[in-house]
Parts: sequence; structure tokens; C-alpha cells
Amino acid sequence: VRYDAHGGPEVLTVRTVEQPTPANGQVLIKTEAIGGSYVDTSMRRGDSAFGSTPLPGSPHGDVVGIVEAVGDGVDQALIGRRVVTLVGSDAYADYVVADAAWVLPVPASLDLGVASVLSMPAPVALRVVRTGQVSEGETVLVHAAAGVVGQLAVQLARREGAASVIATVGSADKFEFVTGLGADSVVSYSEEDWPDQVRASAPNGVDVVLDSIGGTTSTQSLGLLAPYGRLVIYGASSGELPQIPIEQVLGLHTISGFGWAAWIGQRPEQARAEMDELVELAVAGGLRTEVHGRVRLDDAPEAHRMLEDRSRVGRVLVVP
Ligand SMILES: NC(=O)c1ccc[n+]([C@@H]2O[C@H](COP(=O)([O-])OP(=O)(O)OC[C@H]3O[C@@H](n4cnc5c(N)ncnc54)[C@H](OP(=O)(O)O)[C@@H]3O)[C@@H](O)[C@H]2O)c1
Repeated sequence: VRYDAHGGPEVLTVRTVEQPTPANGQVLIKTEAIGGSYVDTSMRRGDSAFGSTPLPGSPHGDVVGIVEAVGDGVDQALIGRRVVTLVGSDAYADYVVADAAWVLPVPASLDLGVASVLSMPAPVALRVVRTGQVSEGETVLVHAAAGVVGQLAVQLARREGAASVIATVGSADKFEFVTGLGADSVVSYSEEDWPDQVRASAPNGVDVVLDSIGGTTSTQSLGLLAPYGRLVIYGASSGELPQIPIEQVLGLHTISGFGWAAWIGQRPEQARAEMDELVELAVAGGLRTEVHGRVRLDDAPEAHRMLEDRSRVGRVLVVP
């Protein structure tokens, strides 16, 4: 599935191309499913807050599948294994090639939705929790907690010792789902007074905010921090980059940013170790992932429509 022009979901069209061949250091994977990503939709529209994306384009995604062949320098033992990996382009395909260094073997018995988050969403969620240095007894505010990364962040903040997790979502129909994940309270940031609602649950302020929304939500979140509180910014789903009045950090606050490409580039061994840690946790039944819907590969525009629909809770899986 590729696109030649930016635009609505309909620009995604199925092409018939040669099956790719794994180069040195790569694996060839026969796809079982591809976990779609919200940020992909803004790349397709051409309105990403992080800058324009080149054309022609293709979706990226978390590909689960079976390794069918390996390139030079790759362990032959991977052939036949079920794996998951983030594929940066041409991910919506029957066959993909991927860098063997970032391929994670996962048991055949592992739930498909859970397997699909282990390549990027879960490692991102864990890393933003750790970037925020969440520690025992602290209060954590997780924005967009019904989204793919958000729901994992709620679970992982709890595991890292948060005493209280306050979650935000866009509408009240998502409250029950997020409470079921382990959030102590949920507020809708669509309501103007949402910061007051958070203050009602955390009168002394929150210790950590995990923010993927950007815009005014980031500024308002900074105002909710307790002394020594940390704001971790890792996305801008609102379409607006945060505009932070820097005097607001004088209340002994820290603002950190997190980006996946920078992280795996700077700390590949630690990134890989955290991915392995999450596979172990998932296999032990310690991670939950809600799958919103499954869409056939040849109906890829529908997958992007689902990803853009704010009523969605959790993952969209594209299946060949
Ligand atoms: N820094 C990194 O390396 C990295 C890596 C992966 C993802 N991310 C970021 O993490 C965030 C979550 O990604 P995801 O894959 O989990 O996406 P997701 O499942 O779509 O979750 C994002 C959520 O954002 C909320 N949202 C708020 N304002 C929105 C708007 N104007 N339009 C659409 N949704 C809006 C939606 O929830 P409500 O409707 O309930 O508000 C949606 O569920 C994104 O911002 C993404 O860019 C960052």
C-alpha cells in the first residue's frame, strides 16, 4: 500500500510489486498483521506537526509475522520464527523486509494484539514512564489514555510504582475502559475545566505528566506539576507543538522530550534490553492491549479512517 499524493485515506492504494529480497543484515517477513499508527495518518495527510513528509509515501507499522528468509550476516535460526518489528516504509504488505537487529521473536501463542505493540508502542510507553522517573508512591497523569501508547503507559506507570494514575481521554465513553486498565480517576480534556478536575484528584499536584497531545494541553499540564514534577513530551496529537512559557519551569519543574529514533540511535543496547523485558512481561500475561478492529490489507483506507476516528479505543490491525 502506497500513496503518491498527500490527502484523505483514499490516497492509499494497493500496488502489485516484486517480493522484496532481504539485504545484508535484513530479514524477510511474511506478514500476519500490521499494527497501524495514528502518526502515520498525519504523514499521509501531509500536515504532521513535525514537518512535511516526502512523496511518494507508504504507511509504517508494527509488523507481526513469520521470518521466511534472512540476508547475509543474519542468524539462520530466525527462519520460521514468529517475530514483531517496526517497519518504517512499505509496512502494509504481504511481505516486508526489516533490520534484523530490531526483530523480536515472540511465541506463536502470544495474543496478536499484544504481540503487535512490543516493537514500538510498549517500548515507547515504558521509556516515557522511565524518562519521567516515575517512582514509588508518585502520582502520574497520562494523557490520551485510551490510545495505543496511552493505555500501555497507564499499565506501566502502575508497574513502575505509581501510587495514583490519573488519566485523560477525549470523551466520557472511554472512562470505563481506562479505569479497567488501572487508572484511579479519569477526566475528559475536552472539558474546559479539566485541569481543575485533575487538581481535585491531586490537590498537591502531580509528579509526572506523560504528554502526547501538545498545544495548550502541554502548557496546562505544566501548571499541574508539584514541585520537582516532570513533564515528558512525546507527541503532538492535537496537531500543535507545545508553546511552553519558560518561566513556568521556575517552580522546580523539568521538561523532557522523548523520540523513538533518537532513543534507539543513542542507546541501542538499553532500548533492546527494554524490548526484551517487555516481551517477557507480555508472555507472562502482564500487558493488555485492546484491539479496536481488523481491516483487510486491500481495504487500507478503512484502516486509516479508523485510526483517525476519535471514538476509537486501542489498536487497528491490518491483515493480509
Ligand atoms: N515520541 C515517539 O517516539 C512516539 C512514538 C510513538 C507514538 N508517539 C506519539 O504518541 C501518541 C500516541 O500514539 P498512538 O499510536 O498511541 O496513537 P493513538 O492510539 O491514536 O492515540 C492517540 C490519542 O490521541 C488523542 N487525541 C487528542 N487529540 C487528538 C486529535 N486532535 N486527533 C486525534 N487524536 C487526538 C485520541 O484520544 P482521545 O480522542 O481520547 O483524545 C487518540 O486516541 C501520538 O501523539 C504519537 O505521535 C510518539
